[in-house]
Formats: sequence, structure tokens, C-alpha cells
Amino acid sequence: MNAPQEQLVNVALGDRSYPIHIGPGLLAGLGNRLAPFLKRNRVALVTDSHVAALHLAAAEQSLRAADVACVTQILPPGEQTKNFATLERVLDWLLAEKIERGDLILALGGGVIGDLTGFAAAILRRGVDFAQIPTTLLAQVDSSVGGKTAINSPHGKNLIGAFHQPRIVLADISLLDSLPRRELRAGYAEVVKYGLLGDAAFFDWLEQHGAALCAGDLPARVEAVTRSCRAKARIVAADEREAGQRALLNLGHTFGHALEQATNYDARLLHGEGVAIGMCLAFELSAAMGMATGQEAGRVKQHLSAIGLPVRAAQIDAVDFDADTLLAGMAQDKKVADGRINFILPRAIGDSFVTDQVDLSLLRQVLEASLAR
Ligand code: GLY
Repeated sequence: MNAPQEQLVNVALGDRSYPIHIGPGLLAGLGNRLAPFLKRNRVALVTDSHVAALHLAAAEQSLRAADVACVTQILPPGEQTKNFATLERVLDWLLAEKIERGDLILALGGGVIGDLTGFAAAILRRGVDFAQIPTTLLAQVDSSVGGKTAINSPHGKNLIGAFHQPRIVLADISLLDSLPRRELRAGYAEVVKYGLLGDAAFFDWLEQHGAALCAGDLPARVEAVTRSCRAKARIVAADEREAGQRALLNLGHTFGHALEQATNYDARLLHGEGVAIGMCLAFELSAAMGMATGQEAGRVKQHLSAIGLPVRAAQIDAVDFDADTLLAGMAQDKKVADGRINFILPRAIGDSFVTDQVDLSLLRQVLEASLAR
């Protein structure tokens, strides 16, 4: 079988526009691809120890081959890394390495590394350019694109951050081969999100090809990442700072973030797993409010389950929280305005909208049903 062709998606933001390259084997050409963005032959690369063990040598070799010197910071893996202490460590290190305004900082990793490195780049010397080299499916289809950067607070996830667009995104699909299956499935939830929020035909396609994609089918992976990035690029170009339609990208996230907070961001629940449960809750709430049909809610659950994703809160190990904990978590969501929680709700598969008109007693019922054993 021939390798699928590299795909290019443009995020159209005027003089801050940037390309997303999607295809197999891109890391080998990293140095040459970055060359047009460099003012001097030196970059700073931030990664984590898992990714470093798998991909750092290839990245450094490619940079060396293009005569680009590289200093590297290797952080502990995991969501706990997205905190003030690690941000300070990265900023101190970048300053000690004399990274200048005109330099390029590279984020090689998943969402945690991309978000933290992007935020460091946003505030270092009031803004330094950075490039995203996402190594997880979740980062390739969502977090590396669109310029949201952040760290977490004890008050909630991603509450401290900035919009700072990368100069280039290199999504090397071959890197997904080294992802643990559970992480790949979690990233797949974000792929499904694009179908559910605005593209029913893409959801149909995922029902046909999702299992093959998760099992390693390279053309299916390139196709799914490309369609996801196209959808995200379109939304970000129209609403960079989330004044309106960008909020749709948070389908399932208000519920998901509350679940992540309730499980202390620990290994019981990956972000994408929280989003999978959250999207099911969004469909169930919508059905309870008389919009989406129960049949559609069932279809979404069935597909996510078939892939091996959790679809109910009760599937999380050792649940030690209740509906009140989740309601309190939602009240801290970034989308709260004037004390009202903004929800992304589906009218149907492929058609979602933003609303703060949610019946709290139905919301509680839906949460309690999801938690029931
Ligand atoms: N992950 C949601 C967004 O980028 O807007």
C-alpha cells in the first residue's frame, strides 16, 4: 500500500496565519521545515520524558542535519506538569539559555507540553514564536491548533493562559504508532467531537472507519486528522478568541472538565475520556430537554463504546464524588458568564449550539443517571 500523501491545512489569521502539515514521517524533515522560521540557527525544545525516550533523538538528529543547534528541557509527563512551578522552571531555563524575542521555541509532545510551552512562549519577553510538534492524536486534532495555551489552577483546568498562535504545526502521523492504545482512544474522542458539533457526514465516516483508524490504518489516520484540523481551522479563523462559535469546540468539555477535576486529574480519567463521557451527557441532556432524539444519543454512545471509550461516569474507577461535586466544578468553567453556565448542546448529530438555558433539575437527573451503578 502506498503511504498517504502529506496534507496541508492553513489557519487563516492574517499576518498570524500558519500551516498545519499532516502526514507520515514528518519528524525526519523537522530541521528543514523550520528553517524558514528561524532568524538564527538555534532553537529551544521542550518535551517530556516519555516523548524524549521515543522521539527526541530523531528530532535532534533532523535539526543537526539542518545545522540548527538545539537546547532541550525535559519535563515530567502528565497533567500535573501544567502548573506554576513548572512554568517558572521553563521560563527561568529559557532566560538562562538566552532565548531571544526573535527565536523559535519548539513544543514536542502532547497537550500538556503544547499548552505549557505555548504559554511560556506567550509571556517570555512579552511573546516569542513557537512551533507545535504534536505527538498524540489529541494534540494533533485539537490542542496544537488554534493558539490556546494555559496551565491549570487548583480552581480548575486551563484557567491561567493566553491566546498565542504557533508559527507552524507539524503533525507527524507516524508518531501515533508509539501511543498507548488508551491514549489514542482518548484522542479519538476529540475527533468524534468534530463530527458531532458540525459535520454529520464525518460522524458517518467515523462509524465506518473509526475502528480501523484506532487499530493503526495510516490513510484513515491522515484523513481523520486532516478533516479535524480543517474543521478547527475554519472555526478558529472565524472566531479566534471565542466570542461565539469557537465555544462549539468545547462540546462535552464542561462536563469533562468537571469530571477531571472531581478525579483530581489523576490516572483514572484521561482528558479525552472525560470528553467522551461529557459528549454523551450533552446528548442525554439535550434529549431530556426534547431536542436530540434518544436514538441519536444512543448512536453516539454506541460508537464511543465500540471504540472502547467510557460513556458513563460510573465507568470511572473508584468514583468518590456525586452530582453536587460535578455541578460545583461546572460553576467554575471558563464559559460561565454572569454566573450562568454556558453549555454546548447538540440539536442533532452534526448540529450543536451554545446556550445558558439549561434546566438545572434535568441537568442533575442526567448527572445522577450517569453516576448510577
Ligand atoms: N480546544 C478548544 C479550542 O481550542 O477552542
